[in-house]
Amino acid sequence: MPRRVEVRLKVSATAAEVAAAAAELFAETAIAAARSRGVARIAISGGSTPKSMFELLADPSQPYLNDIPWGQLQLFWVDERCVPPDHAESNYGMTKAAMLSKVPLPDANVHRMEGELDPEEAASRYESEIRNTFKLEGAETPAFDLILLGLGPDGHTASLFPHTEGLDEMARICFANHVPQKDTWRITLTWPVIVAGREVAFLIEGAGKEEMVRTVFTGGYDPETYPAQLIRPASGRLTLLLDAPAAAGLPGPPAVGASTLELS
Ligand code: 6PG
Repeated sequence: MPRRVEVRLKVSATAAEVAAAAAELFAETAIAAARSRGVARIAISGGSTPKSMFELLADPSQPYLNDIPWGQLQLFWVDERCVPPDHAESNYGMTKAAMLSKVPLPDANVHRMEGELDPEEAASRYESEIRNTFKLEGAETPAFDLILLGLGPDGHTASLFPHTEGLDEMARICFANHVPQKDTWRITLTWPVIVAGREVAFLIEGAGKEEMVRTVFTGGYDPETYPAQLIRPASGRLTLLLDAPAAAGLPGPPAVGASTLELS
């Protein structure tokens, strides 16, 4: 039986406001974690949705450049395409252009998945990088301070695609997942690592995601078909940052604002 989770829903009128809410969550988490543990470890997703958030974090007219303790931030990726870092499809490449090239985050704090390598080698090297950075022992699971996820139109999240081997991987931290429906390989954090995040948040925008948001968060539990349903954080909390079009299918008044949803 899936874990019961309280979903904290924050619906914004526009995609720009979702990006602002996400930037705020990123900054708050980084500041709080650095203050309490001396380090903030955040894992970000790729795709198109988070780009505006990254641009806001790097925008000199916003408070984040000054407020975020960049020297105490360790940045990781949730997943990566198996392409070189300068490839148009690279999640790292997108983040570098939108943010990394404009913020004082030390290179040593940027933990890139090496998409240019053989997928298995890249996954194994990333797992070692996480073990070393978190100083993990044995089968310990890393506890990221924040994991930011997207939702694919097919119900995937990270690079956990429907009916792929990665959905069954419980032991590894990072996995090379073959995605037949895209005829490609992806490197991804596994779902047990994602659900161990202290804070886990989805950023979802656009009317195109309405149906999948409704299915994933209010429909029957079928994670093989809708892998995003695997994300039931051990903390018992999950944050959804949506714009109104993406949230239109959720129960209750399509109100912009904050509310809660119970995932049973
Ligand atoms: C990736 C992402 C992936 C993404 C979803 C949503 O590598 O593409 O990590 O999981 O979050 O596909 O993508 P959009 O934000 O582009 O809709």
